[in-house]
Amino acid sequence: MNMPKTQAYELPRAGLEREALRKKGQFWTPDWTADIMAAYVLQEKPSRLLDPALGQGVFFRAAKHYARSHDFELTLFGRDIDPEVIGQARMSGLDTKDLRNVEIRDFVLDSPSEFFPAIIANPPYIRHHRLSPEQKERLRDFARKATGRHIDGRAGLHVYFLIKALQTLAPGGRLAYIVSADICEGVFAHALWQWICSQYRLDAVIAFASEATPFPDVDTNALVFLIRNARPASDFDWVKCFDRDSRELTALVSGRHQKNYKGIQVHRRLLSEALATGLSRPPSDDAEHQCTLGDFASVMRGIVTGDNDFFFMTSARAKELGIPETLLVKAVGRMRDVQGEYFDPEDVLRLEDKGRPTRLLNANGLSFDQLPVLVQKYLEDGEKRGLPNKTLIKTRRPWYRMEIRKIPPILFAYLGRRSARFIRNRADVVPLTCLLCVYPKHSSPEFIEHLWNVLSNPQTISNLKKVGKSYGGDAIKVEPRALERLPLPDTLVRAEGLDKCLEPKQCSLFGDD
Ligand SMILES: C[S@@+](CC[C@H](N)C(=O)[O-])C[C@H]1O[C@@H](n2cnc3c(N)ncnc32)[C@H](O)[C@@H]1O
Repeated sequence: MNMPKTQAYELPRAGLEREALRKKGQFWTPDWTADIMAAYVLQEKPSRLLDPALGQGVFFRAAKHYARSHDFELTLFGRDIDPEVIGQARMSGLDTKDLRNVEIRDFVLDSPSEFFPAIIANPPYIRHHRLSPEQKERLRDFARKATGRHIDGRAGLHVYFLIKALQTLAPGGRLAYIVSADICEGVFAHALWQWICSQYRLDAVIAFASEATPFPDVDTNALVFLIRNARPASDFDWVKCFDRDSRELTALVSGRHQKNYKGIQVHRRLLSEALATGLSRPPSDDAEHQCTLGDFASVMRGIVTGDNDFFFMTSARAKELGIPETLLVKAVGRMRDVQGEYFDPEDVLRLEDKGRPTRLLNANGLSFDQLPVLVQKYLEDGEKRGLPNKTLIKTRRPWYRMEIRKIPPILFAYLGRRSARFIRNRADVVPLTCLLCVYPKHSSPEFIEHLWNVLSNPQTISNLKKVGKSYGGDAIKVEPRALERLPLPDTLVRAEGLDKCLEPKQCSLFGDD
């Protein structure tokens, strides 16, 4: 069976139902993906299989089907924290015998005492800010003891699930784990994968093209990890899947390699290269670049106001309130307000015409008494509305003190499918958090233009996927530090003469700061 057998994985698109799913991390795997994962963990015909996050039981069904068609006895073991899943699993075609070893217990903090030769999981995807402080503390403590490393507190439950699943594998046992790409892109990823790859053998990573994603309704880039409790190897298969067909992948993960494939691409990769590039990303050819953006510029996030409605306004509104231009900074507040690759003074006027805010109140550097009376009154109104007690604002002294950014000559739209791009800021605006600020290391107009030519080139833009975090539908998000690691193609760096700037003495070519 290659196409989904049921629509059981369809997800509510919004609202309370979706929120309830998020709390329990309930996103169902489609059958065609479950079949591939079952084929990997069951190829040596083990007698027992564990699914530590059962849900509606898709992996039990796939495993039963595999054992029956390969003629061996398999006992199923399962866990879930939600008692309702048993009823749902029954409805999906599992019977009392299949479900007799299912326990309603937390897999990570109240884990099984035995080891299993086959584990298959789609863990709850619960991000760290949805975990209680007590849960977080216990999970962090568990991860520290298990790995001997510090796993950053921004790890979600799916990260701890992976560590626990690996610890629960019998010697030689196999784990198939489907999870968001965040597991190898988050801040915790380096420590996590260094530990995994030093203790276990990574057999394969399966990535999906957007047209073949197992979760079409969720903003996530899913990956399947196939890992064995065996001596680590120095290479593994990195596979990209282009259609929802399990046949070629099932053959591959069962050790039957073919010469040619139609629906998948297979790369045999060195672990060292893949860990440096990121396991969610295709192999990188480092020979093509030596420089990164960080060699020529630094990157900062835009301004967090703490309350855009109060601090960010149209110039008409500022006039009405009697706030003088000297206490306003020209700013851009929404990615959608910037069209294309250039942002010019006319664009600020266009936004004003459309009633979009473009002025940020900045009363820094003057005491309250030195401010014009009308501005004092506006701030007093803000106080009455309780602004000084808002989360971020209450850390500021005085509460209306604004973050400062020098005007960045280049901006970066860091989120989106096709919209992640550099923008030449010719309107001298500062961005709010919707955009990143790129500050070239030298301020001469020539240097900035040469850097801009490199950054706006499609070859450079295509490198964004090497440093960004991936989401569903090929969307990416690039954080400031990651953007500094953006590889710049050598040919472009040389064509623009920026390579000379790497040698300190030559920087004066562009006029030094
Ligand atoms: C993403 S769903 C996967 C379900 C199913 N295996 C599938 O692939 O369709 C994750 C399941 O884990 C359960 N879960 C959440 N937290 C858990 C925990 N701490 N221990 C065990 N199961 C948990 C949720 O109730 C949910 O049914």
